[in-house]
Amino acid sequence: MAGALNCATLQAMKAYRAAILRFAADHSAVYEIDGLLVVAADASGRQRVEAVGPWRELAPRYAHLKIEHFPGRIIAPGFIDMHIHYPQVDVIGSPADGLLPWLENYTFPQESRFSDPAHAAEVARFFIDELLRNGVTTALTFATSHPGSVNALFEEAQHRQLRLITGKCLMDRNSPDGVRDETEQSLIDTEALIQRWHGQDRLGYAITPRFAPSCSDAQLRGAGALAAQYPDVWVQSHVAENREEIAWVRSLYPAARSYLAVYEQFGLLRPRSVYAHCIHFDDDDRALMRSSGAAAAISPTSNLFLGSGFFDYAGADRFGFAYGLASDVGGGTSFSPFHTMLAAYYVGREGQTKTGLSLKPQQLWWQHTAGAAQALGLAGVVGNLQPGCEADFVVLNPSATPLLARKTAQANSLDELLFAMIVLGDDRLVEKTVISQASEVA
Ligand code: GUN
Ligand code: ZN
Repeated sequence: MAGALNCATLQAMKAYRAAILRFAADHSAVYEIDGLLVVAADASGRQRVEAVGPWRELAPRYAHLKIEHFPGRIIAPGFIDMHIHYPQVDVIGSPADGLLPWLENYTFPQESRFSDPAHAAEVARFFIDELLRNGVTTALTFATSHPGSVNALFEEAQHRQLRLITGKCLMDRNSPDGVRDETEQSLIDTEALIQRWHGQDRLGYAITPRFAPSCSDAQLRGAGALAAQYPDVWVQSHVAENREEIAWVRSLYPAARSYLAVYEQFGLLRPRSVYAHCIHFDDDDRALMRSSGAAAAISPTSNLFLGSGFFDYAGADRFGFAYGLASDVGGGTSFSPFHTMLAAYYVGREGQTKTGLSLKPQQLWWQHTAGAAQALGLAGVVGNLQPGCEADFVVLNPSATPLLARKTAQANSLDELLFAMIVLGDDRLVEKTVISQASEVA
């Protein structure tokens, strides 16, 4: 029956020909102008990258496969959004005088609607459609405080076979009726959701204290205990985003060295802890990020929109803590990784030292793919197209608009090509998003 086995193996293999972008271990981009990507099912049936390289070299080895050819297109790793709020789809573009009024006037009222499972299911479908339309294939997202909001999103992500991490928002104080939860029940619900969902297919759970002002000491302590009990579960929260928020935390925790130190005190800083914003840090905070293994989710469109401030790239690199890019929709203004990368570039130019910092196109792209994967503890799993990675990728059309076509045709280097797409790109650039599928193993 060797022939039958070969036949099944062959059916599970696919090959794609196009220009191919991926990343080397030193974070630089590797680009094949005419490449071949071969995808095969692993022992569990999950599609992974089997081989990648120049078409001319690989084609003879895979001559038996039908090759799907995308002339003029670029295959690139699916993007990773390290911090987004799926219940805030309808909050995008809500004007407010900064974070706290924005939360009170727009965000909490919208999130209260997620007590209705039908609403949660409808938004979950829309949210995943929107991620995929924009080329995002992995997301770490907040849900609301309603456990049903978590179930709705996991069910939809499982149906689509997406790699997705989410968790029930913990918020037992300083939060209005409709979204405020109850301390003990919130921790019971969190543990039940971990047991139901974490590690199912490509789903992961994130313990999700909203931010220190919205969680009692007992709730933060309970979250920290769960983070210790389930070390491969993620933790996500917000820190040092806005000056009024920081003053509030100082009044709630006058003895704490800093806002970040509050999370440390409750055991919430560890590898797989992802903190959004990390703007108003001092060097002790940066050292703590590094020593704890926590990662920052940089959310430049949100920080510009809400007037929160600028992430300090140079400061982060001096201490070497992990970070990656995020949309932070709905504080963020776009699902598009191209918009996020461009905003990060503006932040580099304007928000850094007197001379400004020109973040390189390859660095920006890495921060939204392989770098984000590394910050999430998923290096070699997603965010790249090296052999062994799950086969999540996008097919980009660099001629998607007249201006893109004109500009990319004149690119004299890979950096110029990538930068043209970062500056001019949006969802129109993403012609196709392919998600790794799992086949039945016989
Ligand atoms: N801090 C606490 N909650 C939120 C939120 O929903 N968005 C942002 N940007 N910051 C927060
Ligand atoms: Zn956020």
